[in-house]
Amino acid sequence: MRKILVTGGTGYIGSHTVVELQKSGFEPVIIDNLSNSNAKIVDLIARITGRKPLFEKLDMCDLPALQSFFEKHDDIAGVIHFAAYKAVGESVNNPLKYYRNNIVSLLNLLQCMEMLQHKNLVFSSSCTVYGQPDNLPVTELAPVKPAISPYGNTKQIAEEIIRDTVSQQDIMAISLRYFNPIGAHESGLIGELPLGVPDNLVPYITQTAIGKREKLTVFGNDYDTHDGTCIRDYIYVSDLAKAHVVALNRMLDEKNEQSHEIFNVGTGTGYSVLDAINSFEKTTGVNLNWAFSDRRPGDVEQVWADTTLANLKLGWKAEKDLDVMMATAWKWEQTLATGIMEAGG
Ligand code: UD1
Repeated sequence: MRKILVTGGTGYIGSHTVVELQKSGFEPVIIDNLSNSNAKIVDLIARITGRKPLFEKLDMCDLPALQSFFEKHDDIAGVIHFAAYKAVGESVNNPLKYYRNNIVSLLNLLQCMEMLQHKNLVFSSSCTVYGQPDNLPVTELAPVKPAISPYGNTKQIAEEIIRDTVSQQDIMAISLRYFNPIGAHESGLIGELPLGVPDNLVPYITQTAIGKREKLTVFGNDYDTHDGTCIRDYIYVSDLAKAHVVALNRMLDEKNEQSHEIFNVGTGTGYSVLDAINSFEKTTGVNLNWAFSDRRPGDVEQVWADTTLANLKLGWKAEKDLDVMMATAWKWEQTLATGIMEAGG
C-alpha cells in the first residue's frame, strides 16, 4: 500500500481526505499539531473505514522534528498539505502568527520533501486568491487579486513558493483552489469542529439550529444578487476530499502536464446565503432564527467556479447538491451534541 503523508489530517478537510485515501487503497499517515483539531478524530476515522490511520502529533514549524519524521518515512509516495491556520479575521489581528505558521511550515515541508524518492505534493489553496473576479464563473486564468487578509495572502505566497520551487527541484505539485467546503461525512462521525464562535456560515447555521447560538446574522441584504445576499460556490467536503485523491493519482501516474498545476474545486453553481438557509430548513425541517445585519468587511459579493479544467483534466466532478451538504452538516452537529468529542464521549 502506498503511503501518503497528510499534514493537518485531523482537521476538517484533512480527515475527510484520509477517509477517501483509505477507501482508494492508500495508507495515509497523519501529522498534525492539534492546534485546531482533536486526536479523537483518528478513532472516528477508524470507525468509518475499519482502519486506524497512523498519527503523529508534530508541529511542522519544528524543522528537526519534521526531518526526523521524514527519515523514518522515506517511502512516502505523496504529500497532501492541509496544515495551516485559516481564520480570516484572526489573521488580520495577528498577521505574524499566520505568516510564520503557514509559510514556515510549507518551507520546512518542501525542504524535507527533498529526502523522498517520490516528490508529489497536493496543496490546499483557496478561491480567495481571485478576490472579486471580473468575470464569472471564474477560471484558473483569472488574475490573482491583491489579498484582503493575511490568511489569503499566505495562500497566494504559498502558491508562488511552490511554483518557484518545483521549477528548480524535482517536485511535482498540484494546487487545488477550493471554493466553500461545507457538510460532513455521511456517517455523521466526522465534520467541521470550529473553535469558539464559528466564522463560517454553515457551522453557524447548525449551531443556531441546535441552540448553541441564539441567532444567525446574515451579513448584508443590498448586494447586487438575486436576493441581495452574497453568493458562494458551496462544495461538499467529501467531493473535495476525492479531488485530492484524483490529483495525487494524476502525479503518481505521471499524467500531469506541468510541474505545478492549478485547479478550481467547486460545483460550478453559486448559491446565496438565503438559498443556503432555505436548503437547510427544507432538508432538516428546522426553522432557523436569523436576521439581516450590515455587510461584513472584506466579503466579496459573488464568486463561483468554472470547473471545466478539473472536469476534463482530473476527470473529477462534484456530485452532491446543497441539500445533501446541509443534511450531513446537521447530522454532524447532532453527533457533536451527544458529547462524542468530549472526554469519555
Ligand atoms: C472565507 C474566506 C475563504 C476561507 C473560508 C474558510 C474570503 C473572501 N473567504 O470564505 O478564503 O477559505 O472563509 O475560513 O476571505 N455569512 C453570514 N453570516 C455568518 C457567516 C457567514 O451571512 O454568520 C455569509 C458571508 O457573508 C458569506 C457567506 O456567508 O457571504 C459565506 O461565508 P463564510 O462561510 O465565512 O465563507 P467565505 O467568507 O466565503
